[in-house]
Amino acid sequence: MVDLNKILAGLRVMTEAEELEHKREQAEAEARKAQSERSWALRDSEIPITDEMRAAVVRDTLKATPALATVRQWHEAWKSGAAPVLVLVGRPGVGKGVAAAWVLSRTHRPVYLKARNLVAYHAASFGEERQRYEQAVRTELLVVDEVGTEQREAKAAIQDVLDDRIGGKRRTLLISNLSKAALLERLDERTVDRLRELGVIVELAGKSMRSGAL
Ligand SMILES: Nc1ncnc2c1ncn2[C@@H]1O[C@H](COP(=O)(O)OP(=O)(O)OP(=O)(O)O)[C@@H](O)[C@H]1O
Ligand SMILES: [Mg+2]
Repeated sequence: MVDLNKILAGLRVMTEAEELEHKREQAEAEARKAQSERSWALRDSEIPITDEMRAAVVRDTLKATPALATVRQWHEAWKSGAAPVLVLVGRPGVGKGVAAAWVLSRTHRPVYLKARNLVAYHAASFGEERQRYEQAVRTELLVVDEVGTEQREAKAAIQDVLDDRIGGKRRTLLISNLSKAALLERLDERTVDRLRELGVIVELAGKSMRSGAL
């Protein structure tokens, strides 16, 4: 006689196995989608990191560094009201750029600029450069690298950008190689005042992680 229970039990086992397989496929598809979104977000960014680091950002295989932990925390706390401005300062090679790439890759249409380019765009009153300035003001996430290398006379530019970006859901990440004290000395008083209100400054210790034959 046919044992119906046995057949049904067998069927259920198959269904469970199929369900597991289905879940695995779904997870893989989601991971692929997330990777392609990260790659897309980074695509136009001229952030100077190596191809190897770009790939690690996209695949989510970066090492945990203090720079990355700081940026990750800022990013994750954003929805619950983290400071809209993060200033990351630290010696060359401590991973500031890589950490910035990590958050750029997780944001819709972010903008990355070096401070001296932002200053030039800020000074333009029409044309492509003006458009670039407006894009930098409007974007949800603006990363300004090499802050403190711009001409001293141009220091009002950063302040204007911060002012123009107040309100709305906008975050700004400022990056500098200078020490915190040197950066604060370099920025003008009104910019420092804005930072006190809007931001946190995190000074990263440590040596360069760049290794090579030199
Ligand atoms: N999260 C990370 N995982 C693995 N390697 C890393 C990570 N962050 C940085 N590195 C290594 O350190 C190198 C320098 O990092 P990065 O370019 O971010 O430094 P930086 O602080 O921006 O330096 P600079 O001030 O000179 O621009 C990278 O090329 C990489 O080799
Ligand atoms: Mg860098």
